Amino acid sequence: MITVSVANQKGGEGKTTTSLNLAVGLARRGKRTLLVDMDPQANSTGIFVNPETTKGNLYHIFNNKTKMKDIIVPIYNNSLSLAPSSMALAEMEAMSNNAVDAPYILRDALQSVEKDFDFCIIDCPPSLSIFTINSLVASNFVIIPLQAEKFSVDGIVGLQQTISSIKKRINPNLEILGALITQLKPQTLLTKTILPVLGKYFRIFENSISDGVAVGESHLAKKSVYDYNKSSRQAQEYEGFVEEVLSELQK
Ligand SMILES: Nc1ncnc2c1ncn2[C@@H]1O[C@H](COP(=O)(O)OP(=O)(O)OP(=O)(O)O)[C@@H](O)[C@H]1O
Ligand SMILES: [Mg+2]
Repeated sequence: MITVSVANQKGGEGKTTTSLNLAVGLARRGKRTLLVDMDPQANSTGIFVNPETTKGNLYHIFNNKTKMKDIIVPIYNNSLSLAPSSMALAEMEAMSNNAVDAPYILRDALQSVEKDFDFCIIDCPPSLSIFTINSLVASNFVIIPLQAEKFSVDGIVGLQQTISSIKKRINPNLEILGALITQLKPQTLLTKTILPVLGKYFRIFENSISDGVAVGESHLAKKSVYDYNKSSRQAQEYEGFVEEVLSELQK
């Protein structure tokens, strides 16, 4: 199982959109994929199930009440499964900070299902909390979605430091796969101004995702962007991104 965190501590950069469309994109290609919703906002959970009525969720993993296989729900074509979140998970943030094994809870839980999936995609919360740390500790790769318009060097440096200290201290295998530009508006002077700066920090995916109504509408319809409107520009861009991720991972 290859595990990929979709992380950025800034809010609204496209983590959930990217996680769910990457996970569904992999599943549509026949890859056995697990989508892990590590955000107590439960946005990616809410696309597929009602977060308040699941038989178990990551809260129960973090308070040590159950096993990963007991919370996983099959959701899509037998290829995609979900480890749901719930608002209750937020309570575990403060509690688990004190425990010695706090950063390793997700990694340990995922080890028990490693044989069942080809890919695990983790939707991280908008913070560098213990949940993001758990995700990075459990991952082989990180994808960083970011909005070109709201690009800030400060935010990038904080995330980069967190990733490098986890790599140094706990998870030497962790690699940044790349940054995905999301919500790109046509008038953005991306090539002239932002890309050269950003390129000093991360590899940037060749595919980027433009700003368009299909994304918001697909969330409202509780669907992936392909199932909502597969001829939309954003569906095609996410298809290109999924292909790019697969070819990078198979290198
Ligand atoms: N390509 C896009 N075009 C238009 N709107 C988009 C696009 N991608 C994301 N959005 C919208 O931007 C908002 C934030 O996206 P998303 O929820 O994926 O970000 P996030 O990083 O997961 O946010 P949070 O930090 O709150 O978890 C949503 O309302 C979503 O519909
Ligand atoms: Mg989100």
